[in-house]
Amino acid sequence: MESAKNAALLPEMDLSQKTGELSIDGDVMNIKKIVVGQLDVNCYIVSDDSKSDALIIDPGDESERIIDVIDSAGLEPKYILFTHAHYDHVCAVKELRDRYKAVVVMHEQEKETYGMTAQLCMSWGYDAEDFPEADLIVKDGDIISIGSVPLKVIHTPGHTPGSICIYGENTLFTGDTLFKGSAGRTDLPGGDFGLLSASLKRLMLLPPETAVMCGHDDVTSIADEMRNNPFIKRR
Ligand SMILES: [Fe+2]
Repeated sequence: MESAKNAALLPEMDLSQKTGELSIDGDVMNIKKIVVGQLDVNCYIVSDDSKSDALIIDPGDESERIIDVIDSAGLEPKYILFTHAHYDHVCAVKELRDRYKAVVVMHEQEKETYGMTAQLCMSWGYDAEDFPEADLIVKDGDIISIGSVPLKVIHTPGHTPGSICIYGENTLFTGDTLFKGSAGRTDLPGGDFGLLSASLKRLMLLPPETAVMCGHDDVTSIADEMRNNPFIKRR
């Protein structure tokens, strides 16, 4: 279950009955969190207040459950974005892209990781076509607009070379770069602890009240991580 201590940051929190899942109706931006796959990845559905245009962040697995949430809310996904391309964050991309004809978004330095993911998953029985090429390659500073909501791409290498965070409306989606009280591992191919440390330092320049939606586990805030995260405190 999500921590309630962020309620001041996240108005109208409406916790669903499934552990870890979350629905937030903000003034401008709405967020739905679905926990998917064997590694419990947080897939986020972000929409503007018109509740039409939507962004899917990290379509990790269980496309049927993601589709059910999207269709039940009457949303029309325009983009499917990978915070990074490890398999637990991308495996439902084909089903969602086929259904919604949404644009698949990835950072320019994540192509190698995505290729390795496809190879790994094919060894498990997936087909090459299950991993369609990205339609839109982004870089630091690019803007993805969801209706009236602009969301900024922040390149945060370290966990993987092309890891990105997405920032807007006082909310930061961090993938596996920053977790509540922790940070992404750097021992996988393309990982770099020095780069990760620099990325975390950059994220700490965001306003302290920024809500942080991580790729796994609970919601936190920049202020809480500045105080409590050992990857940040020890520098
Ligand atoms: Fe990862």
